[in-house]
Amino acid sequence: MAKLKIGICGWGNVATGLYEQLVNGDGIYADWEICCIGARRDNPKCNSGSTKIFRDIFEVVEADIDVLVELIGGVETAKDLITRALNSGKHVVTANKAVIFEHGEELINLAIKNNVKLLFESAVCAGTPVIKMLSNDLSANKISQVAGMLNGTTNFILSNMEEGASYESVLQEAQEKGYAEPDPSLDVNGTDAAHKIGILAALAFNSGLPASDFHIEGIENIQSQDFIYANDFHMTVKHLAVAKLNNKGVELRSHPVMLSKDSSLAGLKGVRNGIQFDTNLLGEFLVAGSGAGRESTASGLISDLFALSKSKKSSPMQYPDFSKKPNLLNFDDLIFKYYVYLEVKDEPGVLALISKIFAEHAIGVDKIIQKDQLDNSSVPVVIFTDPIIESEMQIALQDLENHPVILNSKIIRIEDL
Ligand code: HSE
Repeated sequence: MAKLKIGICGWGNVATGLYEQLVNGDGIYADWEICCIGARRDNPKCNSGSTKIFRDIFEVVEADIDVLVELIGGVETAKDLITRALNSGKHVVTANKAVIFEHGEELINLAIKNNVKLLFESAVCAGTPVIKMLSNDLSANKISQVAGMLNGTTNFILSNMEEGASYESVLQEAQEKGYAEPDPSLDVNGTDAAHKIGILAALAFNSGLPASDFHIEGIENIQSQDFIYANDFHMTVKHLAVAKLNNKGVELRSHPVMLSKDSSLAGLKGVRNGIQFDTNLLGEFLVAGSGAGRESTASGLISDLFALSKSKKSSPMQYPDFSKKPNLLNFDDLIFKYYVYLEVKDEPGVLALISKIFAEHAIGVDKIIQKDQLDNSSVPVVIFTDPIIESEMQIALQDLENHPVILNSKIIRIEDL
């Protein structure tokens, strides 16, 4: 059998992780050959041996390879590189969720046109199997919901904050462990998880890449006291990405939530990702595993390389049918229960004011608790609401913030999973 000739573009944490797995693979990858690496600079952490290095990454496209593994990250240069590889008749494997989210539709169509494959298992949940599983193994099912923690860094930060660690120190640890993106703001502001749920929604519901009408919010405003107040009601705080189908269309969102501690997702700590699928034939099931890091990502990349080496003729994954795009729902029209955190002046009548504003907006209060005074002598008030439409909740919050006795406010949506 002819060897699978591989060219790797990029020489950072993920690329060197893949290289090390391939060269230390005890002969498992004997049918594969790493022909060249496109690296703008050396990486002192990894010796590339006698493998040919191109300083111009685009020279990898011209080399005698079957598959280009794109690991440079970013969007536009990566898109250019992938485009050139597909147009040159090379398969492409990538871990780059941003480029698949932004240009996936165009790149998939280009792969189909050129009769080559574009595979991206490790773009979502790193090595935890989800992309080929969703596109192949679930193809008999109608999927109604895909929801989960899709960013390893934020789950690592939140689950450590729950144990008392500070946001800043855990973010630094996530960067040192190689979980975070080169620009970690993409992790903590919800964008990375949004890219991933956008990709899963394309596979589950044929929604477009990129998808519009997307609510994205990060974990920057989550504080240790949110875990304490959540715990009083047997809940915890997670960052969740959701794609949900109803008879009007698909909702797409990526934001922090409060979840019952009894939820299967709530128990997943550290860098783990977890996705709950709701399907018609298989029912509800959970996929969970490591969602970031060089070894985990190498596992996903190698699964794509295996799929390519095995299936020269058959298709390693089913692509979405972008001609059947669903309507995307407006986030403002969705209905949630909310955790509302307010810091208020310690004055008589403040609770009455809050109740009045909530009543004006027909927001039912499930629970309201006043906590001990803070150092700045303000008082936290924690409210759990009944279900209400998002747009109404936003107006009520604005009304509250317009009153000088309300010093600070925040909401976290409550998810029944
Ligand atoms: N920064 C990403 C995460 C890496 O933390 O999930 C894996 O996509």
